[in-house]
Amino acid sequence: MLQSLEPLPADPILGLSAAARADDNPDKVDLTVGIYMDDAGVCPVFKAVQLAQKALEAEEVTKAYLPPAGDEQFNRCMQHLVLGVGSPALGAGRVCSIQTPGGCGALRIGAEVIFAAAPDARVWISDPTWPVHIPLVGSVGLGFETYRYYNVADHGVDFEGMVADLRHARAGDVVLLHGCCHNPSGADLTLEQWEVVAGMAEAQGFTPFVDIAYQGLGDGLDEDAAGVRLLVERLPEVVIAASCSKNLGLYRERTGAAIFVCQDAANAQTVLNQAKAAARRVYSMPPAHGALLAGRVLGDTGLDALWREELEQMCARINGLRSDLRAALEKASGRDFAFIEKEKGMFSFLGLAPAQAQRLRAEFSVYMLDSSRINVAGVNAGNIDYLAQCVAKVL
Ligand SMILES: Cc1ncc(COP(=O)(O)O)c(C=O)c1O
Repeated sequence: MLQSLEPLPADPILGLSAAARADDNPDKVDLTVGIYMDDAGVCPVFKAVQLAQKALEAEEVTKAYLPPAGDEQFNRCMQHLVLGVGSPALGAGRVCSIQTPGGCGALRIGAEVIFAAAPDARVWISDPTWPVHIPLVGSVGLGFETYRYYNVADHGVDFEGMVADLRHARAGDVVLLHGCCHNPSGADLTLEQWEVVAGMAEAQGFTPFVDIAYQGLGDGLDEDAAGVRLLVERLPEVVIAASCSKNLGLYRERTGAAIFVCQDAANAQTVLNQAKAAARRVYSMPPAHGALLAGRVLGDTGLDALWREELEQMCARINGLRSDLRAALEKASGRDFAFIEKEKGMFSFLGLAPAQAQRLRAEFSVYMLDSSRINVAGVNAGNIDYLAQCVAKVL
């Protein structure tokens, strides 16, 4: 039976990252995968997480399963982190959530619950979006529509195009939005634009599904959640997929949360049971380690303060790199790269053609996606000038 399977092409992101790892050019620059790296090119463990881990090791007495909804403390902390402690929706008891294996697990559980409620729902995704959205959400059985999002010529959000396309979203449809730090473009909605989207959801009846995988890496924890909080304030229903991979550095621990803001408390209980049933049929119980660490960090005043400080430094470094990269590219090429400084989070398109991105790989061992999406956090003091000179050469 297995003999009948056809070989698959390499994953467009992980395949390139593997090629970069295998490249023995000492000057190589890997800007492919979306992990935060420090100036030494290392994806660090947060000190707050290390301290939580020591405490957990000293106290842990069992490795018995967590329940399908995961750890209660983690779920509570994640609701506070994403929605804000004083969220009226939380106060009204109309929010439920479950711990999931990463943001990907949250997207999957969100999609499973949406499919159970409305199998004919069309999911509107931004053009472009993170490519993994399509298999993660689509393999549940939901169909897709796309809305215009990024204007290549202006290096910014094509909000007019977005609104024109979303005019066709109707009650029973779902609009997948990036809460902050849009992947792959780094171009985010302004608060006024979030207001417009909320108004359209109200008037047309569609349900926002917000993927927030980079909270704290754009402008700050509260600033980055402002869009999703605005939707929650105004709308009866919002589905949210949150990740602790980047902002707590828990990538391999697979830690995330699917959060459902529902019309009322009774519906929230029903949705919680549906989400638990979805978890049961997909993977049964979530992995414990990362969520127990995150719950400890977020639930402890001292560790939480330390973590916030570390995250702020990370965010400041990314924004500093954006300014430095803009300056280096402008100096090397004589062209305008101001957009890099305006965009948010770890990603931006450099605005190169696929052939130019391929030439950067083949001739200079500079690895980025063919779309010229780069991970800004992969830039550092040791590679920035080389990178800028190579980009100038292919331009
Ligand atoms: C846009 C987006 N959503 C969700 C995720 C989920 O990440 P994870 O499953 O590692 O938490 C990622 C990770 O790269 C992402 O870029």
